[in-house]
Amino acid sequence: SKTYKIAVIPGDGIGKEVMPEALRALSAVCQRFDILLEMTHIDWASCDYYTQHGTMMPDDWKTRLADMDAILFGAVGWPDSVPDHISLWGSLLQFRREFDQYINLRPVRLFEGVPCPLAGRKAGDIDFLVVRENTEGEYTNLGGRIFAGTEREVVIQESVFTRLGTDRVLKYAFELAKQRSRKHLTLATKSNGIAISMPWWDERADEVATGYPDVQLDKQHIDILSARFVLQPDRFDVVVASNLFGDILSDLGPACTGTIGLAPSANLNPEGRFPSLFEPVHGSAPDIYGRNIANPVAMIWSAALMLKFLGETAAHDALLHAIETVLVQGPRTPDLGGQASTTDMGVAIAQLI
Ligand code: NAD
Ligand code: IPM
Ligand code: MN
Repeated sequence: SKTYKIAVIPGDGIGKEVMPEALRALSAVCQRFDILLEMTHIDWASCDYYTQHGTMMPDDWKTRLADMDAILFGAVGWPDSVPDHISLWGSLLQFRREFDQYINLRPVRLFEGVPCPLAGRKAGDIDFLVVRENTEGEYTNLGGRIFAGTEREVVIQESVFTRLGTDRVLKYAFELAKQRSRKHLTLATKSNGIAISMPWWDERADEVATGYPDVQLDKQHIDILSARFVLQPDRFDVVVASNLFGDILSDLGPACTGTIGLAPSANLNPEGRFPSLFEPVHGSAPDIYGRNIANPVAMIWSAALMLKFLGETAAHDALLHAIETVLVQGPRTPDLGGQASTTDMGVAIAQLI
């Protein structure tokens, strides 16, 4: 049997409620497929840790995590006790950057058994991948404030797009599109208004496209692209976007499939020089924390993606199949119109393995 070293970081809020369900599902599937996961449970990278230590993580966090095969992550953020930019720039955003997880892969799927908020859509009509640039772009700390607190106050925050960073996410998206049956790639752009960086993204995409003659490239401005997520979601296959555009699209997409409680993500360093990180798209949901009603599927599906990227495809498929079955049969959490608890749903998924 193969052994993998996994760092388990529940984080804050419902991260602490959905993580046990991912571990339950992993334990079932790893037993069935004879996989050994050597888990390291981590209580830092959380706002509780910050409250106690005045920092989100120990100084040597990078060496502690660097030789892991993967990181399984819940959610971070507890804005009542720690400002979000402190907690997120002190944890998740450091992981993405320092471990060069430059791809954020976020599947969007309408499942059988899940009521769709869009009229006339059935399972299978929505099935696409958002490929989000994950290390640069709009997420920089370059800039500053001057004349703070006065009428002359000026605030500047730069966006930084590098050729390396842009080309590699475009290539990854083209490769993905090439492997899919529809071979269609949408580029989120805004080259009418954001007149320096976005026309350049278009140019980079055109150049990368020459290596993929069988992939059809469709550039859409982010505003109408968002509208089409709602009106014509069947039009999308792979969607590639800058960091911020991809962030927004990856909540909007899942909302169109019923609930963001289903949406998983894989923060990838595809070359494997550093560990990749797997986490739900959603956050710590302070509004529902403590009631055991969070949907655990996003977390469990993220754990399945982890298995897939470790090369354990059969285990991934079995886990996804169990998720699909429970979405049809129930039990279902309230965001899916049911009354089940996080635990009920997690147990049902694990039992199906
Ligand atoms: P959120 O994703 O935590 O919650 C948005 C809404 O979706 C809430 O109404 C919540 O109850 C609901 N929701 C989220 N996940 C759900 C689930 N699994 N089941 C059912 N309902 C679910 O976004 P927010 O409210 O903007 O952020 C809350 C905190 O989480 C903030 O601190 C924010 O910075 C942080 N955050 C962290 C991550 C992350 O760690 N990756 C992602 C997004 C937000
Ligand atoms: C996400 C989250 C993060 C992001 C926040 C918490 C910094 O919204 O993973 O989508 O913006 O990337
Ligand atoms: Mn987000």
